Amino acid sequence: MPYVSFLRYAALASHAYLPTYTTTDRGDPLTGLKILGTGSYVPENSVTNKMFECIVDTSDEWISSRTGIKARCISDGETDLFMARTAAESAIKCAKVKKSEIGVIICATITNEYITPSLSCLLQRDLALKEEALVFDINAACSGFVYALNLAYSLLRSSSGKYALIVGSEVLSKIVDFSDRDTCVLFGDGAGAVVVKLCRNAPFLFNAGAKGDDNLLYCPGIIRKKSPFSKTDHEQAPPFLHMDGSEVFRFAVDSIKKSVTAVLDKARLKPEDIDHFVLHQANARIINMAAKRLGAPPDKFFMNIYKRGNTSAASIPIALDELNKSGKLKKGEKIILAGFGAGLTYGAVYFSW
Ligand code: COA
Repeated sequence: MPYVSFLRYAALASHAYLPTYTTTDRGDPLTGLKILGTGSYVPENSVTNKMFECIVDTSDEWISSRTGIKARCISDGETDLFMARTAAESAIKCAKVKKSEIGVIICATITNEYITPSLSCLLQRDLALKEEALVFDINAACSGFVYALNLAYSLLRSSSGKYALIVGSEVLSKIVDFSDRDTCVLFGDGAGAVVVKLCRNAPFLFNAGAKGDDNLLYCPGIIRKKSPFSKTDHEQAPPFLHMDGSEVFRFAVDSIKKSVTAVLDKARLKPEDIDHFVLHQANARIINMAAKRLGAPPDKFFMNIYKRGNTSAASIPIALDELNKSGKLKKGEKIILAGFGAGLTYGAVYFSW
């Protein structure tokens, strides 16, 4: 037996009492990840499709039939930080953990007020979380929350704390062009949060990917100022979201099928074994088509898009919190989360409640 295989065999044998969950492709028979608590916040200002009829050439009928969206919440001054803090406080309370034991804080966002400091650092300050922690933001757009879950899973192994706080918070209304009917009706604002810990009797499987692209879905960044040393002016588009809807639709359905199938295969499960699918809420037709392509019953796919719209990195944790608080999640149930979005990025995780 080669030396490496022997080590692996020894490790496997020493964990023989553990369930046969493997958490990575490398087959480490280690612990998985458990969600201990959820929280969310959406702005009070709910904007209906009818209200959009007054600002762009659209109709309630067009929006709801093409997207499933009826309304979305739009910030009336609530910042990413305010929403992130409110969602995080609720998740920490729900998880019943000591704040002093949170060793990883990750915010997934593309709309933080500041380029620096990160939203996570401001959250750490406002919630009086401990200093000895890994505190940073990630930009994986609408896949941000599932990417962050996997990061937390890796980082908790070397963290000084027992728990990770993961937040998705977006004020997308800051980067939406309200004169562009192709995009403005789709997006909403909000934040969702979870507290997680490594757990021996829990599965955690992950699949993700990216296809770098700045044509199909993008938002230009900071307006570049001419420096005193430049010879030419640099033209730059205003920081608004741009999207090729039908191409992104295709990418979304394909990537959900790919990433969900990958985690199902790793878990040796079939779609019908899963109790709840919580997908990124971008379009009800995307979710229905993904369910069909996976051959999974559509009623297992949670949907709140009709009242929330697409809240990017916040959409999955908000959906998870609403599902949790509705009392529909039972201990031991099998859950798959899947996100997709700008980058282009995608990812799915499988875990149990
Ligand atoms: N109201 C009325 N008409 C609209 C409109 C609106 N809000 N937005 C676009 N249209 C028009 C377009 O101008 C176009 O008109 P044209 O045919 O005269 O050029 C037409 O509707 C497009 O129709 P269609 O191609 O049939 O739309 P669709 O069925 O592809 O739906 C989206 C459009 C955007 C809803 C859909 O493509 C989508 O959801 N894509 C994925 C978006 C997404 O999820 N993005 C985020 C990923 S994280």
